[in-house]
Amino acid sequence: MDPYLSAPVRALAVTADPDVLDDLLRLAATAGAELQVAPDAAGARRAWETAPLVVVGADAALGCAAAGLRRRPGVVLVGDDLDDASVWETAVHVGAEHVVFLPDAEPWLTDRFADAAEGAAEEGVVVAVVGGRGGAGATSLACALAVTSAGSGRPTLLVDGDPLGGGIDLCFGTEREGGLRWPDLGSTRGRLSAAALAEALPQVQGLSVLSWDRGDPPAVPPEAVRAVLQAGRRSAELVVVDLPRSVDDAVRAVLDAAGTVLLVVPAEVRAAAAASRVAAAVGLLARDLRVVVRGPGPAALPAAEIARALGLPLAGELRSEPGLDRALERGEAPGSRGKGPLAQLSARLLDELLPPALRQAA
Ligand SMILES: Nc1ncnc2c1ncn2[C@@H]1O[C@H](COP(=O)(O)OP(=O)(O)OP(=O)(O)O)[C@@H](O)[C@H]1O
Ligand SMILES: [Mg+2]
Repeated sequence: MDPYLSAPVRALAVTADPDVLDDLLRLAATAGAELQVAPDAAGARRAWETAPLVVVGADAALGCAAAGLRRRPGVVLVGDDLDDASVWETAVHVGAEHVVFLPDAEPWLTDRFADAAEGAAEEGVVVAVVGGRGGAGATSLACALAVTSAGSGRPTLLVDGDPLGGGIDLCFGTEREGGLRWPDLGSTRGRLSAAALAEALPQVQGLSVLSWDRGDPPAVPPEAVRAVLQAGRRSAELVVVDLPRSVDDAVRAVLDAAGTVLLVVPAEVRAAAAASRVAAAVGLLARDLRVVVRGPGPAALPAAEIARALGLPLAGELRSEPGLDRALERGEAPGSRGKGPLAQLSARLLDELLPPALRQAA
């Protein structure tokens, strides 16, 4: 077998300049990434196409361009002289996507090494859930989706996106357990390591949960939300976010990342009216907004009619879950029993919303 094919996938550095190499090795180590090193184009040829990231030193760039190496994404050229305009021409010849200069680009390059180490290309799916009115059942459905997904062996992250919801960890009875919660992440900016996040979060029923706590919720800036979701998507195949009904910058950051948003609407006239306001605000930003109707309501309004009135596709109907209130009081998460309306709807929604490769979890 070709030793390069069986070797772990590592970023490739192409340079014979000891100073540049020192810098690259240091940045890769900071990012927890392994680096394979080639002094020139000839040495780089075998790994050129398979490495997730290729960083070419200015000393080797012309050689790489002349060697006719195939164009590929993820090539970065490290320039050595900011005033030398020819570096841009060389970058075009070698097919570099970025030209960077050290030390200014150190944080950026460290992030790219970390992306390469964690496999940035395979990102999980984000599904957000929001209620059409207060008490609609959004948090219950978010929990059930996450529990069902984790129950089938899929790496799953449940994110509590509602600072005033009292903490989603209460639904699991894990409010006294240690681990990371939103107030610990308020100052997060830039890149968050997926491995570090997964390690710091409490695990319950096979899934990671990022919850609010019971203190006064500090404002979490949208940068922190973005960083959490990006890291979450690198380590989890499914990220479920329980959203509040009012849209602020943090919610906008979630909607921006979400593939699908589920709007839970009780089958009642007033709930439908309230939901139309939420749908108007969320729909401006959501890529794919669908309705889950929770019934039956007092007037037996058909789910299809509610969805039609809201002008949104119907994702599913949710019948009343027997014993949900008691289960919640006991800290038994919605969907945990693996049967009942919440578990059944969750399984079907996951089947529809996840791409084929992620549907059959291990
Ligand atoms: N599928 C269901 N079957 C029966 N009751 C439900 C269901 N979903 C929610 N409920 C009831 O509604 C209550 C509120 O549910 P939940 O907290 O999930 O709603 P929410 O939309 O997140 O509310 P909030 O506006 O407080 O965020 C639950 O305590 C339960 O009594
Ligand atoms: Mg809620």
